[in-house]
Amino acid sequence: MKFLVVGKGAREHAIAWKLAQNNKIDKIFVIPGNDGITKEEKCETLDIRSIDEILKFAKKEDINLTFVGSEEYLAQGIVDKFNETNLKIIGPNKYSTQLESSKVFAKNFMKKYNVQTADYQSFEELNLAIEYINKTEHPLVIKADGLAAGKGVYISESVEESEEAIKELMKSKQFKEAGKRIVIEKYLEGFEASLFFLLDGKNYQFLTVSKDHKKLLEGDSGPNTGGMGAITPHPEVDENLLKSIEKKIIKPTITGLKKENLFYKGILYIGLMIEENEPYVLEYNVRLGDPETQSILYLLKSDFFQILKDIYEGELNQTKIEFYNGYSVCLVLSSEGYPYSYTTGEKILIGESCTSKIFYAGVEKEKENNYLVTNGGRVLSLVSRAKTIDEARNKVYKDAGKVFFSSKYYRKDI
Ligand code: AMP
Ligand code: GLY
Repeated sequence: MKFLVVGKGAREHAIAWKLAQNNKIDKIFVIPGNDGITKEEKCETLDIRSIDEILKFAKKEDINLTFVGSEEYLAQGIVDKFNETNLKIIGPNKYSTQLESSKVFAKNFMKKYNVQTADYQSFEELNLAIEYINKTEHPLVIKADGLAAGKGVYISESVEESEEAIKELMKSKQFKEAGKRIVIEKYLEGFEASLFFLLDGKNYQFLTVSKDHKKLLEGDSGPNTGGMGAITPHPEVDENLLKSIEKKIIKPTITGLKKENLFYKGILYIGLMIEENEPYVLEYNVRLGDPETQSILYLLKSDFFQILKDIYEGELNQTKIEFYNGYSVCLVLSSEGYPYSYTTGEKILIGESCTSKIFYAGVEKEKENNYLVTNGGRVLSLVSRAKTIDEARNKVYKDAGKVFFSSKYYRKDI
């Protein structure tokens, strides 16, 4: 059987690695992938980018099933195009991706179905937004409506900061269409949790809850990033909290998805803020998270291909999901300077005694030699699992010292 994974990060590497363990799968293509993934058995990458070309490739190769990792392709409607040609694919159609690709759409959905979330207003006109922040208590959170690769969210302490953020989002060319509309919402204080569900179009199953570390610096400070590390399962989310999440978040969300014809085959990832033991939705994502996926799939005992097959066939009600005991910890090694500017082309060396699993992201093969060099902000993820968080954490931190590239940076407090 041939499988196609769409995306290029460490998340897609983890997906391909886990799928490769099923012996019914002979070949896994990752598009566009990265050169680190080709170290994995059965895996091949192809540097094609447009959806039409991906579609052509999938037809020519007779791909049995496609799974999309990255939001970018989903928001462009890759699932609709595959469905039109009867190629099997898992992921939301373009209409459903609005849950992630439009914050206004998502917030209106939450309001309509009583899903607990921060109070908000949305704006299309700059003057009205500025008028609003002048009469509203700070801090506030100001967000671009559209996808902005994690850069469209500003937390502001004062009217001046808010005004600057609004102008940046609505007027600067950086955000283009994404900043045409904005959401201004109440600032919530607490801890975050990433909640993952599998959906098959009829049934849903809870996968797990993971702890991401979105900020660049220790103590959750500094700018937001795609994510600097993850722990699965989330150490602060207990049974009681899960019960309250089920009631205030999951049940009304599922009701809404069904009523609004948004119930797709794929992954629903709910980003939560827990403030004083109360869960609030920060965002919906219609895909797996990065770096959460690296730690989730490393801890997952069940066959991932079977899970994806059940999703495709609408048989999630029969799926048994099993994890190894304990925890897995993922540590992201990035290039110093990320999420802004950073150098690339630095040789990566891995010490032989490194026992953590490595999932590659921003890397490429050096043209004339066979070694990998850096080629992105988040370079690779190191993942370990153990009975306790401390054990898993110690393993990845020990191994972080065995990976070398000149501008290596990582948080010390995952
Ligand atoms: P979002 O894309 O909406 O998930 O926002 C990105 C990040 O900004 C979140 O992961 C939080 O760290 C932070 N954030 C978003 N909304 C809020 C809020 N209402 N209060 C506090 N922090 C927030
Ligand atoms: N870890 C954050 C995300 O995947 O959006």
